[in-house]
Parts: sequence; C-alpha cells; structure tokens
Amino acid sequence: MKKLIVFNWKMAPPNLKEAEDVFKITREGARTTRKGVEIIIAPPFVYLSQFTNLSSGRRIKKNVNLKLGAQNVFWEDPQKGGAFTGEISPSMLKNLGVEYAIIGHSERRRILEETDEIINKKVLTALRAGLKVILCVGESKRKSRDSGMTEVKDYIKKQLQKNLENISKGYKLKNESLIIAYEPIWAIGTGDYCDPATASDMIQFIKHILNSTFHILDSKVLYGGSVNSRNISDFISQPEIDGVLVGGASVEKKELKKIFAVL
Ligand code: PGA
Repeated sequence: MKKLIVFNWKMAPPNLKEAEDVFKITREGARTTRKGVEIIIAPPFVYLSQFTNLSSGRRIKKNVNLKLGAQNVFWEDPQKGGAFTGEISPSMLKNLGVEYAIIGHSERRRILEETDEIINKKVLTALRAGLKVILCVGESKRKSRDSGMTEVKDYIKKQLQKNLENISKGYKLKNESLIIAYEPIWAIGTGDYCDPATASDMIQFIKHILNSTFHILDSKVLYGGSVNSRNISDFISQPEIDGVLVGGASVEKKELKKIFAVL
C-alpha cells in the first residue's frame, strides 16, 4: 500500500505568489520522489481553485499523484446552495476537483469549538457528497499519556465512536474514502513528536477499533504532529503507519525541499 503524505498548510502562506511557490516545490517533489508515495495538499480555501487546474487527478509520475484536499467543510449540503454565510459545502469542493477534506483537526475543535456531534455531521455529509475524509483524532494532554496508554486508548476509542456514528447507515463506505490521522494534540506545532513505535501502536489500535466496531477494513491511518525532514522517514518506515500529516513544515520552503529529499 502506498504511503500517504498530507500537507496541511493551515492559514498560510499569506499571498497567492507565495502559495504558488510552495505549490510548485510540492509538485516538483511529487514528480521526482523515489518512493511510491501519494501526496495531498490541503491549502486554504482561497487558493484551491487556483490549484485545481494545476493538479487535479493528473498523474505526475507513475505511482505518484498530487491531489487536493480542503482543511474543513460545512455539515449541510443543499444541492442548490443555502443560507449559510461564509461556509463551503462538500459538493462545491467536489465540483471543483477537490478530492479530500480534513475534518476534526484539533485546532478547529479547540479554537472554533467544534464538537464531536458537529464533526460527525461533517464526516457523514462529506462522504455522501463523494469526498474522501481525513478525520483527525488525538488526546489533548501529555498528562493523560503519562498516566498510561489505556487511558489514551479509551479516549481515542470514544472519539472514533462519536465522530463515526451512523457511518454505515444508508451508505456503503469504500475503504479509501475514510482516512484517520492520529494526531496527539501535545505534538502539534510543538516539536515534541510522538515516538514512532508508540504512534505505530496507537495506529494499530485505531485499525482494530475501525475493524471491530465499524467493520471498516483497510482504511489508511496516518500519524501527525511535528513531522519534519528529520523524523518523517522514521514514521513512514513503520509498517503500521500508512503515512503522515505534515503541518508547519509543509509551507517552509527549505524544510519542504528537505522532506522531499528523503522521500
Ligand atoms: P504540525 O501540524 O506538523 O505543525 O505539528 C500538524 C497538523 O496540522 O496537524
């Protein structure tokens, strides 16, 4: 199975010129990378239409695709549009050529106060519109980690149960439609990344829950949190880890080039 590298640009870069520069580095990296990896860029909404022409579905090199993802999506999807000022529907993204949507990122849970219920609605609506969902889960405090992995696993299990509720109701899920990103919150943007063996253990656990509770087999499960050029190989070389979600490093041009140098 090909490893998946998701670049989450967050709220950066500040203008289209810089966004295009970062996009070009990523596209060139995807073209020249040696390993069989799939690359997804999730830029801010305002840059998406600019990039759909440049990337959507086009095979850049045998075994390597560059695809687009959104960082968020709205939970309603009326086909003719609706009175939801400022929101973007899953169908709008799909019609633009966007394939993926990140849902439930911890920054949105914390800063925008997105609840598990909201995230569940977004997951279901996005899947029904034909988007592939990258659902982020992860525990909030280092403390809970130090008090034992059992507590962490219980927390992640509950998060999955709430966020994926009714996932198979009236809808046949394809394996590649759902991707989970295990992102311990204490590791995001801090430089304090989870050690790859522990991340691998958590990912194995998440796959077990997907399988036993939701009968979902073969979904990819990624690791995210302070991934950079120095540690990315340690994560993707773990057999259980199906890829990584890279945040801050994905818009730092030098660092991005270094990442592609080791891919
Ligand atoms: P980071 O962010 O790589 O900057 O820690 C990860 C993320 O966006 O979840």
